[in-house]
Amino acid sequence: MTKDKAFYDQDEVLAIYLAHRQRRDNPNDALERPVFLDLAGDLRNLDIIDLGCGDAAFGREALSGGARSYLGIELAEGMVQLALENLADTSGKVERKGIEDWQAQEGQADFVVSRLALNYVEHLEPVFREVYKALRPGGRFVVTLEHPVITSHFASLESGKRSSWLVDDYFKSGARKHVWLGKEITKYHHSIEDYLSMLEEAGLRLERLRESKPQREHFHSEAEFQRRLRIPLFLFLAASKPA
Ligand SMILES: C[S@@+](CC[C@H](N)C(=O)[O-])C[C@H]1O[C@@H](n2cnc3c(N)ncnc32)[C@H](O)[C@@H]1O
Repeated sequence: MTKDKAFYDQDEVLAIYLAHRQRRDNPNDALERPVFLDLAGDLRNLDIIDLGCGDAAFGREALSGGARSYLGIELAEGMVQLALENLADTSGKVERKGIEDWQAQEGQADFVVSRLALNYVEHLEPVFREVYKALRPGGRFVVTLEHPVITSHFASLESGKRSSWLVDDYFKSGARKHVWLGKEITKYHHSIEDYLSMLEEAGLRLERLRESKPQREHFHSEAEFQRRLRIPLFLFLAASKPA
């Protein structure tokens, strides 16, 4: 993805993404959201930063749930427009910039989140150091990633809807090209151990590790629920800055 044209600003990509998000039993709503909200917990009186905030729907929700402030960082212009609309009558803010270019202010936040955006970022170590800097002592960081068993290898996606999953090159960290939302994209793969080492090296302490284990009540379709029991789509890491 270049800085001039963010992936989600390419023709059709945003429209296809938004259509996916409306689909019944889409993975974001059926799998990601319940675990993320569980890890996020009580948002009252928190200053929140959201890296790769997309349409900032979470910001709107957090502010109406009592968060003190919300700042979204987002690269794609189309997403920034949607975020501004979502935050229009709130105190929430969004800045158009790459996560890689975000420079934290010391102790500006209680809670930093990033949901399904960090797989697009090549170098995570500096990002995690900025997260550490942004957080007040005791502050928390919750990140949702595409699960490493998914990002290790995309060959099984080539035939469309997957009926089997290939895990390969698992310990080879780095770029993986594949077609997503109709266009080629580069995502970055890391093993679980790599993610935990990067958090630790940044000074962040792991509190919880979760996977997107499906819960029947979040699915309309039994077949889709059964399919999601086969392999984890998402990895969640909750960390904190030691007090
Ligand atoms: C899959 S969407 C998730 C959006 C939102 N976090 C959510 O969960 O609804 C990924 C978002 O990350 C943004 N993104 C990807 N790479 C980025 C980068 N390097 N800097 C800032 N935003 C980025 C994309 O533009 C997109 O809005």
